[in-house]
Amino acid sequence: MTDVTGAPADVLHTLFHSDQGGHEQVVLCQDRASGLKAVIAIHSTALGPALGGTRFYPYASEEEAVADALNLSRGMSYKNAMAGLDHGGGKAVIIGDPEQIKTEELLLAYGRFVASLGGRYVTACDVGTYVADMDVVARECRWTTGRSPENGGAGDSSVLTAFGVFQGMRASAQHLWGDPSLRGRKVGIAGVGKVGHHLVEHLLEDGAEVVITDVRAESVRRILDRHPSSGVTAVADTDALIRVEGLDIYAPCALGGALNDGSVPVLTAKIVCGAANNQLEHAGVEKDLADRGILYAPDYVVNAGGVIQVADELHGFDFERCRAKAAKIFDTTLAIFARAKEDGIPPAAAADRIAEHRMAEARRP
Ligand SMILES: NC(=O)c1ccc[n+]([C@@H]2O[C@H](COP(=O)([O-])OP(=O)(O)OC[C@H]3O[C@@H](n4cnc5c(N)ncnc54)[C@H](O)[C@@H]3O)[C@@H](O)[C@H]2O)c1
Repeated sequence: MTDVTGAPADVLHTLFHSDQGGHEQVVLCQDRASGLKAVIAIHSTALGPALGGTRFYPYASEEEAVADALNLSRGMSYKNAMAGLDHGGGKAVIIGDPEQIKTEELLLAYGRFVASLGGRYVTACDVGTYVADMDVVARECRWTTGRSPENGGAGDSSVLTAFGVFQGMRASAQHLWGDPSLRGRKVGIAGVGKVGHHLVEHLLEDGAEVVITDVRAESVRRILDRHPSSGVTAVADTDALIRVEGLDIYAPCALGGALNDGSVPVLTAKIVCGAANNQLEHAGVEKDLADRGILYAPDYVVNAGGVIQVADELHGFDFERCRAKAAKIFDTTLAIFARAKEDGIPPAAAADRIAEHRMAEARRP
């Protein structure tokens, strides 16, 4: 097992000089025996141990992996601060195709690296890692969440993520239309995977009309079969979904970058509120949305249900306690809209200001 806490020049530059940096620690991990190559990035421990998932992905280069770890860990600081958790932000990436190289030996080696940080970083699932993987990691490392209930974990986090997004939508409706009910509103969901399909159920229960799309035909079919005569229709793709006439709310629940120079000008919805991380493709899109009079509920605010759930595992998981915490996403979202109005800035910028203030306050002696 080799632990290289030194870093190549571009990592050092990002850490110490870039505006996007400000990270506390970056650990490069290598275990030749299992083929593990990983990067653990701790952006901030100002509010507590850094918490964030492990992404297992076939990065095109090691530089790309480092950049992703730095970017994602920074995002986790903001998400955790906004969710009121006593956690800073961290994230790990394992380099390689999980279908090809993921083995028990590799996950155990990874667990030893996380354990070597002594609790400064707490890990969880992300793209390419699952509850069963965290059960393996946990055998070497007690700072592991996202485990199965049989192993003291909370299991699938998408249930509370969907619930939190639904609360964000209700808050957005309250802000824009003076009523949190979504009865009679038309809501479009792009991506009906783990989070999206739970979101459909919340919306139907509240009386909304739901339009769905997904690149996987079987995911769409599963929902249409479940609701043959009530309130759900499907369109061919996301491009069609965002142009649906009379759409009230658009919920990106697939991949990042859904809000960009191509999509924002043609959106028919008045509200954007969804689960996907990093929805704004580049800085400035939040202003384009505001200029078109579209209310954007910041992604990391409304999708915090999952991290609220995994953080709770460290205290002995209690579903009702977590659900109550995730329900507060309603108030948090309203507070962000209020601050945005007060400061004359888009909600995404207001959310960043509030999160940064919380982190700065926590650093006081
Ligand atoms: N699962 C969680 O607890 C959680 C927490 C916070 C944020 N998120 C974010 O929410 C999003 C959804 O997460 P998930 O766990 O439901 O993932 P998932 O992989 O289960 O679902 C994503 C769905 O999107 C579909 N999809 C992919 N590309 C698409 C496209 N171009 N158009 C339409 N559909 C497309 C996929 O086929 C899949 O069904 C991700 O961005 C994830 O990072 C998830």
